[in-house]
Parts: sequence; C-alpha cells; structure tokens
Amino acid sequence: MELFERKKQLEVAQKALVVQITLPPNFQQYSERECVELASSTGATVVEVWRCKTDLPNARIFIGRGQAEELKDFVQQQEIDLLFFNTTLSPSQERNLARTLECRVIDRISLILDIFALRAQTHEGRLQVELAQLKHLSTRLVRGWTHLERQRGGIGLRGPGETQLETDRRLLAVNIKRLNSALEKVQNRRELGRHQRKKQNIPCVALVGYTNAGKSSIFNALCNTDIYATDQLFATLDTTIRRVHLTGVGTCLLIDTVGFIQNLPPDLIAAFRSTLEEAIEADLLLHTIDIADEDRSQKELAVEQTLQDINADTIPTLKVYNKIDLLEDPTEIENTLFFNEKNEQENPLSVAVSAEKKIGLSELNRKIAQMLSGKFIQVEFTLSPNYGAIRAQLFTLGEVLSEDYTQEKPKITMQLSQEIYQTLKQKKKGIEQTKICVP
Ligand code: GTP
Repeated sequence: MELFERKKQLEVAQKALVVQITLPPNFQQYSERECVELASSTGATVVEVWRCKTDLPNARIFIGRGQAEELKDFVQQQEIDLLFFNTTLSPSQERNLARTLECRVIDRISLILDIFALRAQTHEGRLQVELAQLKHLSTRLVRGWTHLERQRGGIGLRGPGETQLETDRRLLAVNIKRLNSALEKVQNRRELGRHQRKKQNIPCVALVGYTNAGKSSIFNALCNTDIYATDQLFATLDTTIRRVHLTGVGTCLLIDTVGFIQNLPPDLIAAFRSTLEEAIEADLLLHTIDIADEDRSQKELAVEQTLQDINADTIPTLKVYNKIDLLEDPTEIENTLFFNEKNEQENPLSVAVSAEKKIGLSELNRKIAQMLSGKFIQVEFTLSPNYGAIRAQLFTLGEVLSEDYTQEKPKITMQLSQEIYQTLKQKKKGIEQTKICVP
C-alpha cells in the first residue's frame, strides 16, 4: 500500500531537498527552518533548500514551467530521492509534480502525517494516526490510484459492477469505521482513568508547548526520570502521566503532552485534541517555550490559539522559558521577558530555566507551588495512638511540613488540597482532631 511504502521510504536515510516557495501575501507561508527540521526528523538528509518565487501558483504543478525544469536538472545532478514542498499541494499537483520532476514529492501535510506515523507508540496513538492518514487519503482517491484491496487479499471484496475507484472508496470507508470504533473503546477507557484521577483530588500540572520546546526534558527534570526526549519534532506523541512529589505541593500528577505545530493538518486536529484532553482538566498549565528559538513569538501565539480552540485558555498558565543556556547574552532574559509581571491573582507569569543544565528548576518548583497555593490549606492533624496507617496515607496526600511526637498524641502539620481535607475530615479514621492553620 502506498502509505506503507512511503513509511518504509522515510525510514531509510535518503537525500532530500526542501522546496521553499515565496508566495503572494494572501497565501499561507510556512517557516523554512521548521520545514527543514520536520524533513530531517523523518531521518532523511536535507542536502539543500531550493528557493523560488511565484505570483500565482500554477494549477497543474504549483510552480512555473521554467522553474520546474530548473528544479528537475538540480534533482538529477544532486541525485535527490525526495522533495519536500513546504506548502499544501492538491492531490493532482502532487502527482503532476512527481511525474514532471521524476522524483517523489511530499507536501507539508503528508510530511507531518508521516512523522506522526513514524513516532506513534501507544495503541491509541497508532489508531489516531492511521485514522488521520486514511481520512487524508480518502480525499486523494483518484482513478489510477494503487488498488487498496491488494492489502486485504481482495477476493470477494469487490461487489458486482463496481469500478476500482468505488471499491477503493468503499474499503477506505470500512477501514475508517473500524478505526473509529476501536478508538471509541480506547477513549472510553481513558475517560474512566481521568474520572478516577479526579476522584483522588490530586493537583494536576500539564506541560504544553510547541514541538521541540523541551517539554519532555522539563518533565524528566521534575520527575527525575528518563522519558524519550530527543531533538526530533513530535518525539512525544502520546500523553505521559506521572505521580511526582514537588516541594511545597506534595504529591501531584505531571502530564507531558504532544507538541503543538502551526496549521496542523485538519485530519490530525481531532487526533491531537483527544490527546490534549488530559491537559484540559489540569489545574495548571506549564507553557514551555524555547527561548533561543527565533520564531519564538509566532510559536507562542500558535500554542495560545490552540489552547483557546480546546477551551483550555482559562486554566492558570505559567510560561516556562526553557534552554536559557543557549542564550549568548543572558541579560536578554530580563530585557525581552516580563519576569516580574504578575497577573491579577498575584501569580507569577513566567520563569526561565534550562532543563538540560538544570538551571532554575527550584524556582520553577517554587512558582508551581505558588500558583497552586490557592488550592491548598495548611492543616494540623492530631492522630490517635494507632496512627501508623493514617500517617503513611497523609504522606501520599500532601506535603508534610512538620511532625511533633513530644506530646501524648502525635501531631502532623501539612499542606493539602481543600478537597482532600474535606474527605479526611469526614472519615477521621486514625485522626482525632483537625485544625486549619493557614486557610
Ligand atoms: P516534542 O516531543 O516534539 O513535543 O518535544 P519536547 O517539547 O518534548 O522537547 P524535548 O524535551 O524532546 O527536547 C527537544 C530537544 O531540546 C532535545 O534535543 C533536548 O535535548 C533539547 N533541550 C531540552 N531542554 C534543553 C535545554 O534546557 N537546553 C538545551 N540546550 N537543549 C535542551
């Protein structure tokens, strides 16, 4: 099948060329650097960027005839295997270009879909990507397209009088239906998990941000674990959740999410959103930003826009400017950002860190605690003589600030969420008395 072949092609290191076309202002223009990064993260070697300009994209081959001839010569001289067009091509433009240039042509949407296909690791991630690919493919079904039934064995699949195109369409629809129902089951299971987590009332912090900003690295730094962090776009495609202990917060859930990208292919938006649902229910978002990235502001805006789209823009957000070790002039931090600015609730808006060099992490921890502090109260518990079990439980439910065993009955002072306090107050097993110290 075409998808499988393409995936295979991308897995083998190949010589690739990025084609960057300058378009008139009313056309969507994508970042050249990002396209090179995207193309490289498929494993292909981008040997050069070929730049050209067009005032009106050609309906047949997008670029001009003369430009196509020049490009073809270049492709042959350099023995290029793959052409990444940093724009959206129609199915026929993609096909005509491949025929004219005698080289494989991949546009931006197909490129992103392919990267997602290469990276998806969990069952759900794979289902999501496969569904997005099939939906994308269904818009590209034209006469003469590779026969789908070859993949499924074919015998008995074609109804009487059906043309090849109709058979392909029908098979795609069957596959899309199958994937949708498989996904529904996985999503129901996840919904259940989320519901159970909510019942535990543990504060939830989610890392969101543009792809490659360093979310997984911050996640690792805060968890002291080794989640897959690599200089590849979309290294994290599935949501990772860890229970961590943060100073001043106690136990909380830390969520690493899929990276954002500008103008995500429409077929991937749905897949992307369901993965992000975990973030929607977080108590705090850590919007991770690569401070050394020249396109930083544009990417920041793209993330904010997506958060708005998924109704997550009302969740308290701390901007985490990462990779400060890459700045030549660290005073840039003070000049360009508003670190002392606070929002109406007097919460800090941003923090500068380097996840890699472990700079600013305790400040990050402090600000997380500060931003979540509205959720917490300080309580003194007086325990009954048989306190072993409840003491152990208290340590998992919040941040224990002090213990006092000098009195007849032991006392534990701790910080915990309002909700957990209410549940503990009702149960009172092992707890003789409760006193709120700091509301
Ligand atoms: P996606 O999975 O694509 O969303 O990426 P991510 O945001 O999770 O980024 P990740 O943590 O995978 O980091 C991307 C790259 O940036 C990796 O090569 C990291 O080693 C690098 N990186 C992360 N933090 C820092 C940092 O503080 N300084 C430097 N110099 N590099 C960093």
